[in-house]
Amino acid sequence: MHNSKMSTYSLEEVAKHNKRSSCWLVIREGIYDVTNFMKEHPGGEELMFEQGGRDSTELFYAIGHSTDARMLMAKLKIGELCDEDKAKIKGTAGKSDSLNATPFKGGVSAWIYPIAIAIGAALLYFSPMPQGPN
Ligand code: HEM
Repeated sequence: MHNSKMSTYSLEEVAKHNKRSSCWLVIREGIYDVTNFMKEHPGGEELMFEQGGRDSTELFYAIGHSTDARMLMAKLKIGELCDEDKAKIKGTAGKSDSLNATPFKGGVSAWIYPIAIAIGAALLYFSPMPQGPN
């Protein structure tokens, strides 16, 4: 879902926020202000600070952040990357629409539901039929 009320920023603008006093991250196409959160980051303040002003999408997902982390992240969102720069983000070029449509799905987690449904269906299929009166 695209929120048109959100501000958009260029990569150049984001790059200026690589300071303790103002630290922003790019994750997918969102811009996150982690200035105050850095000190509380369970993965470490320094690790996060190193990513300040940069696209940290790959690192963020490589770590396998939990749903909790992703909900926290949503609260830190301050805007989105401007359209011209979306294509410059590694790995998302040409896929921006599908990424926007499912911001938190992808990777292994996207397979959990279909696999769970398949297992459920298999269990039903192989379970004994309920006993009738005969
Ligand atoms: C807005 C962005 C981010 C938020 C809200 C966030 C939040 C969190 C949270 C809540 C955890 C605890 C474990 C969990 O719930 O998954 C965590 C762990 C971790 N984060 Fe982040 N994180 C962010 C960005 C990053 C980035 C960019 C990196 C990489 C440089 C990173 C590296 C790590 C690491 C390595 C851990 C694991 C710590 C451990 O298991 O001991 N995080 N993060």
